[in-house]
Amino acid sequence: MKEKVEQIKAQLLEDIKNVKTTQDVVDIKAKYIGKSGLITDLMKNMKDYSPEERKEIGQIVNVAKNEATEIIGTKEEEINNAILNEKLEKESIDITLPATEIKAGAPNILEKVVEDFEEVFMSMGYDVYDGPEIEEDRFNFELLNIPKGHPARDAQDTFYIKDDEILLRSQTSPVQARVMLSKGGNEPIRMICPGKTYRRDDDDATHSHQFMQIEGLLVDHDISLSDLKGTCDMIAKKLFGSDTETRFRPSYYQFTEPSVELDISCFNCKGKGCNICKNTGWITVAGAGMVHPNVLNMCGYDSNKWNGFAFGFGAERCAMLKYGINDIRTFYNTDLRESATFDRREEE
Ligand code: DAH
Repeated sequence: MKEKVEQIKAQLLEDIKNVKTTQDVVDIKAKYIGKSGLITDLMKNMKDYSPEERKEIGQIVNVAKNEATEIIGTKEEEINNAILNEKLEKESIDITLPATEIKAGAPNILEKVVEDFEEVFMSMGYDVYDGPEIEEDRFNFELLNIPKGHPARDAQDTFYIKDDEILLRSQTSPVQARVMLSKGGNEPIRMICPGKTYRRDDDDATHSHQFMQIEGLLVDHDISLSDLKGTCDMIAKKLFGSDTETRFRPSYYQFTEPSVELDISCFNCKGKGCNICKNTGWITVAGAGMVHPNVLNMCGYDSNKWNGFAFGFGAERCAMLKYGINDIRTFYNTDLRESATFDRREEE
């Protein structure tokens, strides 16, 4: 038996020299130590031996099996290391090569301005709402105190989807009515709603049939025009620089009384007069006012108990001023050099 074992071992040592691949390892394992391998087979006819002989043979075979396992194991490790090294060598990265240029994007200017508004208003406890662009006449006009046939509708001529009732909203103000009605007239409101609006305007440098407004509404008790002024002042300073001044000019909107236009001092000439402010030193950025009692009542808020203010900023106008853009159509073309915030002047 010992001889037989020695013979197998010699054969294994010979065979192992030819083992080069992982498949060879699998094969040689099967040949020697597998289920019916040469060494395993030595135990086959054990029943023909006496108990003492069996014990001895068992020991010899076990030792042989361990030796064979070790020899094959060493070889297997050698092969695996070689495969790994080859792989590492092939996949090595030349860190001295110049890096591939990654073209980073930049936010769209309009989006950025809207986000800035949202951030400032949210920091003052306002919620940001969304409203439908396809709107009902009732919300776009009637609940805002602009009944059918009212001449004020002319200035907001829009696109009609179905008869005279369904239209593309001409302002974001209908969201005021929607939010008030959804609250049921018994809780205070602080909300803004940025969104797209539409009007039947011919496109030129300052007009577009599609543009964006940032609507705002606050409803509570004992709100005064000075609260509106304070809010506008804070927004203007945050968005256009801390030395920005604000002023109200009397105006007229059907859904506010009194109504005002919000002007900010020209950040370019600081009030001295330049071509941006058309030599007035002031730039108009929003319409605003105290919410008309009719609007409160129609939208479920008792105007004897509640009052508030509202405002609507022109998003493009603010963006154009902030980033020195002189044509509103810039926002709606696809030239990223113009509509993204790359290299643009930032106030902050
Ligand atoms: N919706 C008005 C417009 O499109 C802007 C506006 C004015 C909104 C006064 C308001 C407001 O909320 O109080 O011209």
